[in-house]
Amino acid sequence: MSADKPTAPEPEAPALSAPGRLTPVVTDLWDVEDSWTLAAYREHGGYEGLARAKTLSPDELVALVKDSGLRGRGGAGFPAGLKWSFLPPADGGPRYLVVNADESEPGTCKDIPTILSNPQALVEGIAITSRAIGCDHAFVYLRGEVPHVYRRLLHAVREATEAGLLDTGFGLDGDQPLRITAHAGAGAYICGEETALLDSLEGRRGHPRLKPPFPAVAGLYARPTVVNNVETIAQVPAILARGVQWYASMGTERSKGHGIFSLSGHVSRPGQFEAPFGITMRELIDLAGGIRPGHRLKFWVPGGSSTPIFGPEELDVPLDYESVAGAGSMLGTRALQVFDETVSVVRVVARWTEFYQHESCGKCTPCREGTYWMRQIMARLEQGRGLPGDVDKLEDIASNIAGRSFCALGDAAATPVLSGIARFRSEFEAGCTTPARELFPYAASALVESAR
Ligand SMILES: Cc1cc2nc3c(=O)[nH]c(=O)nc-3n(C[C@H](O)[C@H](O)[C@H](O)COP(=O)(O)O)c2cc1C
Ligand code: SF4
Repeated sequence: MSADKPTAPEPEAPALSAPGRLTPVVTDLWDVEDSWTLAAYREHGGYEGLARAKTLSPDELVALVKDSGLRGRGGAGFPAGLKWSFLPPADGGPRYLVVNADESEPGTCKDIPTILSNPQALVEGIAITSRAIGCDHAFVYLRGEVPHVYRRLLHAVREATEAGLLDTGFGLDGDQPLRITAHAGAGAYICGEETALLDSLEGRRGHPRLKPPFPAVAGLYARPTVVNNVETIAQVPAILARGVQWYASMGTERSKGHGIFSLSGHVSRPGQFEAPFGITMRELIDLAGGIRPGHRLKFWVPGGSSTPIFGPEELDVPLDYESVAGAGSMLGTRALQVFDETVSVVRVVARWTEFYQHESCGKCTPCREGTYWMRQIMARLEQGRGLPGDVDKLEDIASNIAGRSFCALGDAAATPVLSGIARFRSEFEAGCTTPARELFPYAASALVESAR
């Protein structure tokens, strides 16, 4: 690795173009014509980050991303630069970057739109990260159900390659070309878990691996590997182009920067809102045009179906990792699902439980068996045919899955059940006598006329 190049000065922090609380960066191009093309990306400053990265040594790049405070956007919020620094010293063999584009958590919708509308931000981020970790072959593992997104990714990689942007500057000595392989998965939520993803990428059935060793030490093909989420990597170019100070000036003390907040459900204008960490759900609902007319908020989740349920009383919690955890939930993937007073909590939790049972990989007993039992009890409760003691039994089963499963999918499955009962126990108890559709007629919560 070449560590002797001069360090380019930090760029002046430019002002953000959008007024108010939004900070469009990765999403800035989304409504530009042909936004997915290299021409559109370059017209808007694309590849300035890579140009700067080529003036820095790999160590300097890692330090810069550490200083920016960028945390992984795949759910857990692990500091990106720190993760990159865990790779062992070079030993002459390959080291890999694997981008996690599996995006399957219910409600999560940021990585797929990013690849669809601004794939070059990801390609440029891959190039910078590969340079930082001494990699000359990177992979993108994309969920298989979105062939149009896969095609767009292939197109973006081809355009960048043909334009010579990936010709040199990569690998252990910093003088190799970069190869990017886009891999379409077969559509399994568990393949978003980083070690199951690696197994799947290697051609095996996607089952989580025992950790340690962590991927940084023994990842893809047992070689040192960095696994990062699409949004994590797509944010890297702007950090290089606009500077660490610009990035760290957004967000809160320990949750720096900005992120894509995806609002779905009973708001007037659902969609993606790129905003600094620390924005509140009240502000985001305002930006989304408010709760649909004539209705009021009943409950919401901050980070996808696997994060504990919040109610109206949490609307002013700053949406950063620490504050959301302090209020009893998790920021997760910022998949903010909004439900108004017409919605049956039992029905929602039943759908999520079906999802987790279907996606359980079956490797460990608590999750494999527990999700199967929970699904049956939730179905009974939704139909108003719950048995005496069912709610206690459900709570008991969920408590025996949480913290006792091999990977976090088990915890994810237990969370909506436990938090649903904690907040809305009477609705679950009502499921022993009354069908959910009688208490909450389903047509009332439908968003499209044909579903009513
Ligand atoms: C069941 C399960 C599914 C996951 N799905 C995804 C996913 O679709 N995308 C993702 O980036 N991370 C997913 N993760 C988290 C990854 O294991 C890993 O932490 C992440 O890709 C690391 O990237 P980051 O540090 O940039 O956040 C999942 C984890 C679990 C347990
Ligand atoms: S918790 Fe579920 S998904 Fe994870 S290993 Fe166990 S059975 Fe598989």
